[in-house]
Amino acid sequence: MGSETLHEKPEKMGEETVDQHRAIVSLMEELEAVDWYNQRVHATENAELREILAHNRDEEMEHAAMVLEWLRRRIPKLDAHLKTYLNSEGSILAVEKAAEEGGGAGSGAGDGSLRIGSLREGGGRQ
Ligand SMILES: [Fe+2]
Repeated sequence: MGSETLHEKPEKMGEETVDQHRAIVSLMEELEAVDWYNQRVHATENAELREILAHNRDEEMEHAAMVLEWLRRRIPKLDAHLKTYLNSEGSILAVEKAAEEGGGAGSGAGDGSLRIGSLREGGGRQ
């Protein structure tokens, strides 16, 4: 494993957790790229360069969305939170309050786990 951002030994975590780490790092990189391109888009005074950078920024958004979806399909708690907040309207804090009152994904009533371990075959560790 070539990632220097692992905090535990890969053999202790299992392949699924290491793959999720890869995806999370990729998501961070994609969002960082969006930010960098966006800053350049708004800084340059060259219209053609601005257009290219904006195009590239928007492709990074697509990449971020794809890897986020990969993670969502594997992490039930993330899926639940995304269902609660994505495409909601109005106050985001009000959405949280409503979810808590309704015992929804944002209720915090769970054990705080990402439930990553429960996805692993054999599911022993959490
Ligand atoms: Fe990308």
